[in-house]
Amino acid sequence: MKINVNTNENINGTLVLPLWQDSKNMATGSESGVHRGLKTQIETILQDGDFKAKSGSAMTLAGTEGGKALLVGLGKEEEATLQSMRESGAKVTASLAKIHGKTLTVKFHGMEDAHMGAFVEGMILRDYSYDHYKSKDEDSDDTEITVNVTCEDEKTEALAKSSELSSAVATGVYLARDLGNAPPNDMYPMAFAEQAREFGRKHDNVDVKIINYDEARSLGMGGLVGVGMGSYRKPCIVIFEINPDKSGPSPCIVGKGITFDTGGISIKPSPSMDEMKYDMHGSATTFGVMQALVASGHKDRVIGITCMAENMPSSNAQRPGDVITTYSGKTVEVLNTDAEGRLVLADGLWFAGTELNPSYMIDLATLTGACVVALGHEASGLWSNNDELLNNIKAAGEHCGEIAWPMPLFKAFEKEMTDSKIADVRNLGAGRWGGSNTAAAFLKQFVPNMGDTDEQIPWAHLDIAGTAWGAKTNKMVKTGATGIHVRTLHHLITGQ
Ligand code: BES
Ligand code: ZN
Ligand code: ZN
Repeated sequence: MKINVNTNENINGTLVLPLWQDSKNMATGSESGVHRGLKTQIETILQDGDFKAKSGSAMTLAGTEGGKALLVGLGKEEEATLQSMRESGAKVTASLAKIHGKTLTVKFHGMEDAHMGAFVEGMILRDYSYDHYKSKDEDSDDTEITVNVTCEDEKTEALAKSSELSSAVATGVYLARDLGNAPPNDMYPMAFAEQAREFGRKHDNVDVKIINYDEARSLGMGGLVGVGMGSYRKPCIVIFEINPDKSGPSPCIVGKGITFDTGGISIKPSPSMDEMKYDMHGSATTFGVMQALVASGHKDRVIGITCMAENMPSSNAQRPGDVITTYSGKTVEVLNTDAEGRLVLADGLWFAGTELNPSYMIDLATLTGACVVALGHEASGLWSNNDELLNNIKAAGEHCGEIAWPMPLFKAFEKEMTDSKIADVRNLGAGRWGGSNTAAAFLKQFVPNMGDTDEQIPWAHLDIAGTAWGAKTNKMVKTGATGIHVRTLHHLITGQ
């Protein structure tokens, strides 16, 4: 979707008219350039109450001599939020059909900068579909949509800037969705790594390093190796560095990247097992954040590290009962091979904390079904050893309409995970209750201390099991992978 912001009064293509609830007229000043016939039709509809402009509503007008229009309801002005505006923008894109053509003119009038910006952002975010594996027929038309956005003179500069930023960040969201949606026969650990390597080649200010299977083994990454060794397609770690020349501690994003999670020997039931292709969405988001930062021109150093493996049952797979030694040197009793995400992250977190000089670390993982039980599809779970980091992530999520909800790291959960009879840590809670909290408590065991202190590096964990896909109330996406938290983390890191 191409966005042009201008003050031009001409209407190109279909007129898109955002309206506050119960408007009886077009906003004064917004009629300029609108053909009289179309204006009369719009005002008749509004005055008759045939379009109430409730939030989430839209109406197409066609067949008038003055051209076509798409009326969009914004809901009540006094109740408007950034998210309600994004949702109205997304509604425009979702409503587009052949009849509207590929050129639109959005006419804003008398609206706040932030509201207009969010509306445009919603239009952009919803403009995504995953058709890589669909054959094209004569009817398919993938011409890009061009949107002319008009508003008052004095507001155009700010709106042009925010639209440009939204478009840049959206490239990261789209990439995360592409990676998440890719079928698991094509998206395996080294395929992800190759795509990352290509990204590194393309950008002068990006370094990409890969730790392959043999290297991971010699480094003693028993968590990653244990999970990935049952698959013919071997595990690896990908390290991204944006602006590597800038020195000093930097934000670090860590992703769970299980390209397919069968559960391993503790195999999952068949229904919906196909959805476990999304089990690498933590890594998809990590890569997406890197793309978003590069596209928006971020100038400081940021690190990403993704822990890639395919969790398969085989004669070479790890077994329930195995004890592995992780990169940290701590041993783990593997009681359930389906609790694999925490094992690969244990190595990723320890490596990031000891080798990559992070100022803080945030991991993202489709880690537990229990998190979906707790929060549904409405929010990601958020755990942290640092209140300031937790509050900053929560605020960034709220700002972006990607809710991250605080969850507890009670000492009792840590105790539960460290009372294995034969190892330092166990990968399964003692019972089934609080499963997302015990998983977070497990991860905390693999956050190194800062330098020689006895204080851990600030760390946060986002369980995105409920938000990475299948969230029907997420209006920014039609179906499939959501690209969740690319925007949250871009906003957190850049303040933009
Ligand atoms: N990838 C799954 C978690 C998951 C399940 C995400 C459903 C999204 C939807 C994870 O690896 C897993 O299997 N976790 C187990 C942990 C359990 C064995 C302690 C779970 O949640 O059941
Ligand atoms: Zn699993
Ligand atoms: Zn998993």
